[in-house]
Amino acid sequence: MKFFIDTANLEQIREAQDLGILDGVTTNPSLMAKEGVSGKQAIQQHYKTICDIVDGDISAEVLSTTYEEMIKEGEELAALHSNIVVKIPMIKDGVKALKYFSDRGIKTNCTLIFSAGQALLAAKAGATYVSPFLGRLDDISTDGLNLIDEIRSIYDNYLYETEILAASIRNPMHIINCAKIGADVITSPLSSILSLLKHPLTDLGLAQFVADAKKMG
Ligand code: G3P
Repeated sequence: MKFFIDTANLEQIREAQDLGILDGVTTNPSLMAKEGVSGKQAIQQHYKTICDIVDGDISAEVLSTTYEEMIKEGEELAALHSNIVVKIPMIKDGVKALKYFSDRGIKTNCTLIFSAGQALLAAKAGATYVSPFLGRLDDISTDGLNLIDEIRSIYDNYLYETEILAASIRNPMHIINCAKIGADVITSPLSSILSLLKHPLTDLGLAQFVADAKKMG
C-alpha cells in the first residue's frame, strides 16, 4: 500500500519524507489556504517546492468547475512538473475532464468521491486515482470503510486500473482497515501516520533493553 501525506505544510511533508516511507502528497484548496498560499504564482511555486521535496505523485487540485476552465488549469498544473497529478472534482464536467486528461496520458485524481457509482464513473473515464472521503462519511454516521470495500470489489470485478486512494483519514485504525480491505493508497495527516509507530509495550521493552545494556558495560 502506498502512503501519501494529505497536507500542504512543507515542514510536515519534509518530516514524512525523512521517515523514508512517503510515496506522494495530496493537497486541496482548503489545505493550501490553511498554509496561507494564495495567488496563481504562489500556488504554482508551492507545488514546485513540494515536487522538489518528494519524488512521487503530487496531487494539485483545479480551482475551477467548468470543463473548459478545468482543462486549461489542469494543463498548466501538469506542465509544472512530471509528478503532478491533476485533481478533479466528481461532477459532470469533471468526468469529461478526466477522460480528456486520460486520453493525453496526464495523471488524474478524482476527488470528493462519496459513492460506489461515482467511483465507477471515474474509473470508466480513466482516472488514475479515485479519492473516497471515508472520514467525512463517518462524520455523517455512514460507514466510510464500507465504501472502500465496495469500490475494491467493483474494480476487481472488471480489472479497472484506477487506484483507490483512501482520503479523509482521521486515525491510525482507518489506515490499518484500508490496508486490510486492499486500498491501493492512503493519504493521511502526519499525526495518523506517526500514530502507527506507537505501542506502550515497545516503549517498556526498549526501556528494559536500554537498562540491561548498561549492565553489560
Ligand atoms: O484531501 C482530501 C481529504 O483527505 C480531506 O480530508 O479531513 O478534510 O475530510 P478531511
